[in-house]
Amino acid sequence: MTRIVPVHSADDPAIYEAARLLREGELVAFPTETVYGLGANALNAEAVAKIFAAKGRPSTDPLIVHVSDLDMLRRVPFDLPSAAEGLAALWPAPLTLIVKRPSAVPTLVSAGLDTVGLRMPDHPIALALIRAAGVPIAAPSANRFAHTSPTSAQHVYDDLNGSIAMILDAGVTAVGIESSIVDVTSDPPRLLRPGGLSLETIRTYLPDIQVMERHSDASDEAMTAPGMLLKHYSPDAPLILFEGDNYSVREAIRLEADRNLTEGVSVGILAAEEDRAALDLPDVHFIALGSLTDLATIAQRLYASLREMEQAQVDIILARAFPTKGHGLAIRDRLLRAAAGNVIQV
Ligand code: TXA
Ligand code: MG
Repeated sequence: MTRIVPVHSADDPAIYEAARLLREGELVAFPTETVYGLGANALNAEAVAKIFAAKGRPSTDPLIVHVSDLDMLRRVPFDLPSAAEGLAALWPAPLTLIVKRPSAVPTLVSAGLDTVGLRMPDHPIALALIRAAGVPIAAPSANRFAHTSPTSAQHVYDDLNGSIAMILDAGVTAVGIESSIVDVTSDPPRLLRPGGLSLETIRTYLPDIQVMERHSDASDEAMTAPGMLLKHYSPDAPLILFEGDNYSVREAIRLEADRNLTEGVSVGILAAEEDRAALDLPDVHFIALGSLTDLATIAQRLYASLREMEQAQVDIILARAFPTKGHGLAIRDRLLRAAAGNVIQV
């Protein structure tokens, strides 16, 4: 059995208990500002191996190492290229930098790569936990492999109950999508995964950043089964993404919903508040993620809404595409992956 332990402040005794478990080589799930992470001592290969086992994650998919402060970063030591210093000054933030892997970090953490993801999460409980553990913490999102990332302790429990000791529960995460990943070992630097820190912000520090357009991370070069990452972030039901102007998208989703309902297929619709009048149809599980003018809220609610669709046991999810500025780039990336290429231009 996995314990869910509520934590209310950075000096909560539960944090010290969790830190002790981490030092003893056990796994602990904890909140960050993006999604919940599944942590292990990043310097202990045996502990890190437990992450892959608990998630059912292939050992070809590298992990992100989390630090609490610059002191810890220097102790390992991680080496930040000077070009990355401006961005790193934004830490703690929803930002992961790919840097050279120090010898103290076992190769298992980075799936054999000579680089490693590094991040300082912007969450008081995460920072207190890492500081109390006294070691950097390797942590992927705390979901079972290829499932939707968890934005609450309950999501973690639903996926991993029985395979981890403890979940620190600090409520729903604020950002709701994973960190932006920037490879600063390449020239020009590359955005490998859009995320909680906007491309617009990253560009002010790295004007020549190259955006990787593929629907997969750079790590798929290290993956044995190609295409696997395309089905990352997937809900259990198939998802179709509709792209186009508001009017055409609503029409197309309505037609597709009707067609499915006629065939006895249960339908979920994932859309915006502005779509409610057109798309909150009888017999359809309709979710408005938020207003089209508030992409941060849409990002925050995206994963929980995909899980809600699963609980409603819909057979198919029809989703609208959102504007791609700010948080929108990451929203588009996650919806494309959830759609596994199933995109309709209208
Ligand atoms: O917001 C986040 O980043 C969350 C929280 C828990 O911090 N973590 C997270 O981890 O999203 P995960 O394991 O679900 O995603 C890590 C991804 C890998 O799948 C890979 O695409 C990329 O980070 N990555 C890690 N190390 C890499 C490396 N050395 N080179 C290229 N990509 C790497
Ligand atoms: Mg993940």
